[in-house]
Amino acid sequence: MQIVRTIPELRAALAKRPGRPAFVPTMGNLHDGHIALVHQARPLGDTLVSSIFVNRLQFLPHEDFDSYPRTWDADCARLQAAGCDIVFAPREADLYPEPQTFRLQPDPQLADMLEGHFRPGFFAGVCTVVMKLFSAVFFASGGGTAVFGKKDYQQLMVIRRMVQQFALPVEVVAGDTARAPDGLALSSRNGYLSEAERAEAVQLSLALRALAHEAVAAGPDLPAQLPALEQRAQQALAARGWQPDYLTVRRRGDLQPPQTGAAGDALVVLGAARLGKTRLIDNLEV
Ligand code: PAF
Repeated sequence: MQIVRTIPELRAALAKRPGRPAFVPTMGNLHDGHIALVHQARPLGDTLVSSIFVNRLQFLPHEDFDSYPRTWDADCARLQAAGCDIVFAPREADLYPEPQTFRLQPDPQLADMLEGHFRPGFFAGVCTVVMKLFSAVFFASGGGTAVFGKKDYQQLMVIRRMVQQFALPVEVVAGDTARAPDGLALSSRNGYLSEAERAEAVQLSLALRALAHEAVAAGPDLPAQLPALEQRAQQALAARGWQPDYLTVRRRGDLQPPQTGAAGDALVVLGAARLGKTRLIDNLEV
């Protein structure tokens, strides 16, 4: 497995390899969910590239950029074992040699709600770095496949829309969310949880499951019942000591509130809530 630091090094390494890359971007601290994406990506390209880069642009000033776990040796060992060919691990000065004053502005209809509402600028930071990573990875081949996890559902939608609007020659493939045996979605931020919080953390996915069940039960009356259902779901989590940002039912296609019931719209239930100092997100397709 080759490790490269700069965009020219990566492009040169890829130019020597025939065919098209499959790409899994990460911020490191890899868990089984990331590795499942790498396994999924392996047969989708001739060269498997994964990136490790904690992207400052997508963190708000009060967020955990500095403390975000960096586990370089373990990450490399896991990527090698999973069959990765090239790890692209730029230092900050390699990816942003000068202040990144050009930024991508994602469609506000999609990116200013939910995560974008609670983390303003987050998707601009994600799109900017993903565009730069795509330019580095797919330059030599003229295109390929990139795999993103459904755990970050809105991110996946935003990236898909970006690829479509810029006509990028990249096929975006979605990977299912990996879960711990109790149902907690795997996340690098789970490592912040105390033992007691870890035991409690599964309640977010249980609350989403209950909300999904109620959404289906509401049938065609869902749009009318939705505000009350969402409020009840948030109150139930808050009563257990959580600070919910949102628990909501949306259409899968555009993440807008459903206009018809579950029978008419394909739905997804999304949630974000803070448990102690840790903010967790999860979702469930209905
Ligand atoms: O999902 C992530 O890990 C990050 O948002 C990504 C896509 C690697 C961009 O920094």
